[in-house]
Amino acid sequence: MKKPAVLLLALALTLACAAQQDLPTDYLTPAFHAGRREALRALMPPHSVAVIFAYPTRTFSNDVTYPYHPNPDLYYFSGYKEPHAVLFIFKEPQQGPGGKTFKELFFVQQRDPAQEQWTGRRLGVEKVKSELGFDAVFNGSEFNGYPLDLSGFDQILFAGLPDDVHDDLGDPADLYDLLEAFKKKAAIPADYDATIISELAAILERVSVKTLPRAINYLTKQGNASEKLRNNPWVIGFMNCKDSTDLAAFKNKLSSLKWNTFLYDKLIASLREIKTPEEMDLMRKTVSISSIAHAEVMKAIQPGMSEAELQGLQEYIHKKLGAEYVGYPSIAGAGANGCILHYEENSRVNIHHDMMLMDIGAEYHGYSADVTRTVPSTGKFSPGQKAIYDLVYQAQEAIFPLCHEGTPFSDLNKKATEVLADGLIKLGIIKDRSDVSLYYPHSCSHFLGLDVHDVGNYDQTLKENMVITVEPGLYIPAGSACDHKWWDIGVRIEDDVRIGKEKFELLSWQAPRKSVDVEKMTVNKSAVNNLILPPVNVP
Ligand code: GLY
Ligand code: MN
Ligand code: MN
Repeated sequence: MKKPAVLLLALALTLACAAQQDLPTDYLTPAFHAGRREALRALMPPHSVAVIFAYPTRTFSNDVTYPYHPNPDLYYFSGYKEPHAVLFIFKEPQQGPGGKTFKELFFVQQRDPAQEQWTGRRLGVEKVKSELGFDAVFNGSEFNGYPLDLSGFDQILFAGLPDDVHDDLGDPADLYDLLEAFKKKAAIPADYDATIISELAAILERVSVKTLPRAINYLTKQGNASEKLRNNPWVIGFMNCKDSTDLAAFKNKLSSLKWNTFLYDKLIASLREIKTPEEMDLMRKTVSISSIAHAEVMKAIQPGMSEAELQGLQEYIHKKLGAEYVGYPSIAGAGANGCILHYEENSRVNIHHDMMLMDIGAEYHGYSADVTRTVPSTGKFSPGQKAIYDLVYQAQEAIFPLCHEGTPFSDLNKKATEVLADGLIKLGIIKDRSDVSLYYPHSCSHFLGLDVHDVGNYDQTLKENMVITVEPGLYIPAGSACDHKWWDIGVRIEDDVRIGKEKFELLSWQAPRKSVDVEKMTVNKSAVNNLILPPVNVP
């Protein structure tokens, strides 16, 4: 090798190996992740293996990718945040070549100083061992040739396989190659579609002969399903079930499949839906950051601002207080835009005298908040806005006392629907209680955690240390069948709570909720209101 080349390589290595400085000190620890793996192992059936792939990278533009978001499951069980990796968690200890035993096997991204100078540091095999605490770690390029006999396992648990992963031909160990090698090692039949099997398995948990036609209708999307779904042999088998004997035989056949995405989903959900104390620390931080951001925006808001600047202000405060990302695309909609549930354009340049619905939450060390506040830009709700706002608030107040161990999850939305329906009748907006869904089209609670819509089982009673949202809302778009004075009012109030044994903990308490408190907060002024763009002088 010539001298300059040696020097360049040395420089690249120095850059890539330089220790990162001034990092947060409150990351989840290797002991936490190891504890989660043990908890999963305890739930897994005998002779099984759980397989967890990294998420794919996604194209933003040409050769530029979106900021990478790790697969929450992989992060939960390992702390690894990079793409192009696969983790195996075994129920029983396994013997590797050379007689070494291991309970986990991890194939990760290879160190590559030249690449790392462009796309960022990689942990590589050595640091996955020393920093994340794994023993059996290999480069992804070794996976294909690694003697791992998956045919010997009774159950292979995994989340399903994405079918839109790009094959980087210059990288023999990217996610595409890992997936292909896994399909071969696990002998997954070509017609096995994990997404369809998972959906079928979930339906089979509940279906009876009586509900069979409805279930088929649901599965086939009211006859609009894609050809791929309609022609799937398992879907055809399900649609051919005529009586309880057929149904029982079909269930047996499906549950004896060794590639089990349904059990994977169930086990992971049962772990992730209950937050450990370490996770609760992070949940409190992420929700606190988001609530402080909402309160700050209440001080800044005024007519003339844009939707995007209110979004930007919140996201700046997230970063100022240490959150790395937003938990989901921020929703900042003024007036009519507040009636679009997941409005993400945030493109109105002047909110004028309208009310702003802001559904904006931070992500802190992987954990997402989900907080919504609806605020009048003028600092004062109009009588119509206040009537709707106070009704949504009343629904929230009725739900909170139910947020304790033992309440059936479905009771929360029953209560929200009841309060909102009664209120809308009183205001003369609907006549029949069943019409409440015209203006309240979602339900009031979901699990929250590493995913904003976190994994968890909704068909159960609440348990201590679940974290859920409480988010009733009313949306009355123009043209609705009610007095036009209500048109274009959209209100959602969304808070995050920890379920306790007997009561709840309100995590988002720092953002005012009551209409009078929201108005009071807007009286404060924010320094950002004095920022203006000075005239640009052309020399
Ligand atoms: N931010 C999405 C939701 O509230 O569910
Ligand atoms: Mn939300
Ligand atoms: Mn939500």
